[in-house]
Amino acid sequence: MRLRDKVAIITGSSRGLGAAIAEAYAKEWADVVVTYNTSKDEAFKVAESVSSKLVVHLDVRDRETIKEAFKKSYETFGKIDILVNNAGINRPADFDKQTEEEWNEVIDVNLTGVFRCCQEVLPYISDGGKIINIGSLSGEYGGPRTPSYAVAKMGMMALTHNLARFLGPRNICVNTLSPGVIANEFTEKTMAPHVKEMAMSLLLIKRFATYDDMVGAAVFLASDESNYITAQTISVNGGAWVR
Ligand SMILES: NC(=O)c1ccc[n+]([C@@H]2O[C@H](COP(=O)([O-])OP(=O)(O)OC[C@H]3O[C@@H](n4cnc5c(N)ncnc54)[C@H](OP(=O)(O)O)[C@@H]3O)[C@@H](O)[C@H]2O)c1
Repeated sequence: MRLRDKVAIITGSSRGLGAAIAEAYAKEWADVVVTYNTSKDEAFKVAESVSSKLVVHLDVRDRETIKEAFKKSYETFGKIDILVNNAGINRPADFDKQTEEEWNEVIDVNLTGVFRCCQEVLPYISDGGKIINIGSLSGEYGGPRTPSYAVAKMGMMALTHNLARFLGPRNICVNTLSPGVIANEFTEKTMAPHVKEMAMSLLLIKRFATYDDMVGAAVFLASDESNYITAQTISVNGGAWVR
């Protein structure tokens, strides 16, 4: 019951880590708004399993859908306490092969998308609320074969810090939760075998993460237990030791 009476909206909660965070928040009694961009059917399945009263379309590239999603959430629940900026994509390529189109696409979703959501939630988010941005180990060290992704995630960490400064007077905590490598579809699609091998060599705990490894920190950062933690990056990465 650590999130009792809290209302949380999670971008990209139709599947993957976002869906796992939705489940974890619901277990702690939060009201969860499930959002999707393209995976509508999956989003409704997630909503059923977390007994969500609201499923909305939210494309982080489209400010109107963001505005509409926050407005509907507010109209349904009367408040928003927690925003998790989880939606993300990757277009892996070596630095010299990354196209400008791929670069712009990743920056638009993973960085500008977070900027848009943070701006648009401002009129609705409660004082004492929480914003959690899902970063990445790549953003902490300029990860391999992911120039646009690493830059977007590192930029998100700066955004976290800047916004935490802006929202400190309202006691709103803004933090980055930075996962290492999660064993899921995203990783399968975006990491070549030799990159996975290299990533494994960085880990102190010799396995890739599960969603269960991630959601504890996501609940903690959303709960009152972390009311004095802001502008931080919480790395959940098996002790990745970056060279
Ligand atoms: N997997 C990893 O190893 C790993 C490691 C570090 C960080 N992360 C980060 O964790 C987050 C979640 O990753 P994941 O592994 O769960 O990926 P995933 O399984 O591919 O899920 C991505 C989610 O983002 C949503 N999304 C994509 N583009 C969107 C857009 N334009 N607007 C709104 N939603 C959009 C998707 O929604 P639809 O399906 O509805 O389109 C989906 O729900 C990302 O920010 C990722 O960078 C992942």
